[in-house]
Amino acid sequence: MFFNYDVQKGLIIMTKNIQFFDTTLRDGEQTIGVNFSIDQKVAIAKQLEAWGIDVIEAGFPVASDGDFKAVEAVSHAVTKACVTGLARAKKGDIDACVKATQAAAHKQIHVFIATSPIHRKSKLHMSQDEVIASIQDHVSYARRFFDIVEFSPEDATRTEPDFLVRAVQAAIDAGASVINIPDTVGYTNPVEFAALFKNLRENVPDFDNVTFSVHCHDDLGMAVANSLASIENGATRIEGTINGIGERAGNAALEEVAAALYVRHDYYDADNRINLSETKRTSDMISDFTNMAVPHNKAVVGANAFAHESGIHQDGMLKNPQTYEILTPEVVGAHKTTLPLGKLSGSHAVMTKLQEMGYNVTRADMTCIFPIFKAKADTTDVVSEADLRIIMKHVSEVS
Ligand code: KIV
Ligand code: ZN
Repeated sequence: MFFNYDVQKGLIIMTKNIQFFDTTLRDGEQTIGVNFSIDQKVAIAKQLEAWGIDVIEAGFPVASDGDFKAVEAVSHAVTKACVTGLARAKKGDIDACVKATQAAAHKQIHVFIATSPIHRKSKLHMSQDEVIASIQDHVSYARRFFDIVEFSPEDATRTEPDFLVRAVQAAIDAGASVINIPDTVGYTNPVEFAALFKNLRENVPDFDNVTFSVHCHDDLGMAVANSLASIENGATRIEGTINGIGERAGNAALEEVAAALYVRHDYYDADNRINLSETKRTSDMISDFTNMAVPHNKAVVGANAFAHESGIHQDGMLKNPQTYEILTPEVVGAHKTTLPLGKLSGSHAVMTKLQEMGYNVTRADMTCIFPIFKAKADTTDVVSEADLRIIMKHVSEVS
């Protein structure tokens, strides 16, 4: 957090600085059917650096030889961002992270163990005390090798609030300086996230001495909203992936979080290092390497994100783009706004398009042209430039 002087309000305000943590190469690769090559992982990591990412989770080094080598390769390739590997609370996992990240200019480790009752009983077969002992052992072990240890209580949002406090403080006491709160199964909503952070703020004695991070999954479509709610309640690091890829319904889409912080800076008052103009390029690379098309209506990077179909909207856009666009495509490095012509388009948009194509048409001319356009539009999804040329030829022949 740092101080800014707000001239309009005449106040000294505290602006938060938000770190972006990308796990496209780790949690993102847990998407069914996605398996990046090492070269692709290095290319993605470099593009993430160009995008301005603070931390890159390059993989889970103990998981496979390929993952180990990928974390090693990313550690060599990346110069500005901090590189991390993931480790369960197991010494072998931590040792693998130590080796794989050796070459990194800036590094940290990410250690996790589940804390929720369902995970303790059904998966780990451990009592609360045993989980706390494991946190103490493994975070302090990791701290011997890394200046920055990030600890995640997996399934934090379904963990008993008082036990979550205990687990978080145990990790801090053992040397963790970043505490990540995962909504592992995308269960929580923004109001509950605020309450979770309030409980931590009020009961973790060292809350203000560490960085709080959030890691939200999208099972109920709330990952981005939950991430933004966390920023309002004490988190200063956001974890997610590009295009929101990841396990099951995926992770928080970082490009959406970044765009929201930009468009609603008035509300969140949160700065960050993201270079938004590299957003579309980054999204395209992930779509290409995963063979997963970005949905047309996806926020920020979808093909329709800056396309306006109806006559009323097109007329508004031609008069003042701010009527229907809160973010311009140029800001995120996308192609320009489009006004595709279809059956809902109005005369103003058709006339403007014809003028752009070089036709010298006036509003009066449109009384004859527009009904022909409408007839064509009723038979097709989008009226193309070729269609318009045919219409204009027909008009010139009859007039
Ligand atoms: O979703 C999750 O809980 C995780 C942890 C490893 C942080 O991915
Ligand atoms: Zn996850």
